[in-house]
Amino acid sequence: MAIVYLNGAFLPEAQALIPANDRGFIFGDGIYEVVRILEGQVFAWDGHAARMTQGLAGIRIEAFGAADVAALHDVCTRLVRENDLATGEATVYLQVSRGAATRTHHFPPAGTPATVYAAAQRFTPNFAMRDQGAKGITMPDIRWARCDLKTVNLLGPVLARQAAKEQDAYEAILHRDGMVTEGAATNAFAVIDGVLRTHPLTHHILPGITRAILMELVRELGIPCEERPVSLPELPGAAELFVCGTTTDVQPIVTLDGKPIGTGAPGPITVRLKEAFAKRLYGRA
Ligand code: PDD
Repeated sequence: MAIVYLNGAFLPEAQALIPANDRGFIFGDGIYEVVRILEGQVFAWDGHAARMTQGLAGIRIEAFGAADVAALHDVCTRLVRENDLATGEATVYLQVSRGAATRTHHFPPAGTPATVYAAAQRFTPNFAMRDQGAKGITMPDIRWARCDLKTVNLLGPVLARQAAKEQDAYEAILHRDGMVTEGAATNAFAVIDGVLRTHPLTHHILPGITRAILMELVRELGIPCEERPVSLPELPGAAELFVCGTTTDVQPIVTLDGKPIGTGAPGPITVRLKEAFAKRLYGRA
């Protein structure tokens, strides 16, 4: 049975019990992260830790600060070892909620400890889908106005991903006020008139760690790129479209709502970035 981490203890999953009045369960009152593990090492930990710390501060979970987040690094590596995942690829899910307390909308009494949970699992990238490209659909972005915080409230993405699945698509590309924001669980990029474009970092998107690495690679490779939203009318005419994320890497989207994007095959800028990112991830081409 899997060994998980709960509030300082490493224990079999079946013994990891959370009180039913935990605010993560009742209100979705918590922050999470998903990190990628390669050969027992956490990929891009500093970025994930910084985002988690900012997210916790953003929703005012003061019982779990930057030093507590930093200590989760060793929780990840130990979980990987305890679950025989130290070779090959894995992911670790981390969640911090505002803790268990009598239900009140306002915060629980000062001193209520946060609930801290982490679990590791095997991860096998779908290289064939990354090479061939995947289907996408478009969906209205019905999420709240602080999508920059990685909260465990995921109903918008859950409903969008289910709609995608029902249409045999990998991802739902979300739009708000006529502008593409991001994917349900990914950031989105499109090539329009030879320029790579992605939504700027505002409250309407998650500041993706993969997105940040791609922005570095774009500069290194000299690919013209603008942080400017793509409008919904522009999207079908994009020459290339891809989404990115911790478990997605760079995933070309080759059809959208049943119509081909560009030639209907992954485009040259997408492929260059996909290869450059794979090199960063695996340390080789
Ligand atoms: N999702 N945008 C949203 C809404 C996301 O949920 C994610 C990540 C991303 C990509 O961020 P990053 O590159 O840091 O993974 C963008 C994670 C993997 C998830 O919910 O499982």
